[in-house]
Amino acid sequence: MKLRVFDSEQDAASACAAHLAEAVRARPSAVLGLPTGRTPLNVYRELVALASRGALDLSRASTFNLDEFFGIPPDDAGSFRSYMERHFFQHVNLPREHIHFLDGSAQDADAECARYDAELAAAGGLDLVLLGIGGNGHIAFNEPGDSLLAPCHRVRLGRETRQANAALFGDDATRVPLEALTLGMAAILQARRVVLLAFGEGKAGAVSAMVRGPVTPRCPASFLQLHRDVEVWLDPMASQQTQ
Ligand code: PGA
Repeated sequence: MKLRVFDSEQDAASACAAHLAEAVRARPSAVLGLPTGRTPLNVYRELVALASRGALDLSRASTFNLDEFFGIPPDDAGSFRSYMERHFFQHVNLPREHIHFLDGSAQDADAECARYDAELAAAGGLDLVLLGIGGNGHIAFNEPGDSLLAPCHRVRLGRETRQANAALFGDDATRVPLEALTLGMAAILQARRVVLLAFGEGKAGAVSAMVRGPVTPRCPASFLQLHRDVEVWLDPMASQQTQ
């Protein structure tokens, strides 16, 4: 794992957007794994700015989002699909048919997860995945527990995770869906390159466990220690227990 501490969250976000844009320049048909949440917001803003200046062409790229709430339709204002439309998809030239997303309104969760894994396999897997990390050490919605699952799967969200997503539901954690669908550990660990961003004091403990702790399902992000090409980009606050 290569750690880099930036002077600020904004500096890390700008560098991350430039890094993604470079990956797409090098391989225009790149398959990107994309996160939601607060962490990547500035990255999306910077990518949209690059695209509007003609410095990012996504016309041949494809995206797979990491996860989605289960039990709400894609056009629900709280869904991750809606978040991505608002902050990214609507503003760039990524063809609609190149956008891959889990459908939280699917009747059969297992079939939906199998479909998503098959689509990702058909695309050749992720060339580059951008990740955040939960305060509890989750990546995508692979929550800490006694074990982890390799394939895409349905998951019950922990209280801390629902709290962290309350902003999408009018700051009311009780309105955050109880379950989600998520890419499993295999899709993430098989990505050719990983960039994980973490900002703020609230992430310092999880970052330290990810980087310095044992590899354990109690901290799903710790499995990234087994991957050959992981960049961990932090602001000073998120790095304070890792120095
Ligand atoms: P956050 O979520 O960016 O909203 O902190 C990160 C994550 O849960 O992966």
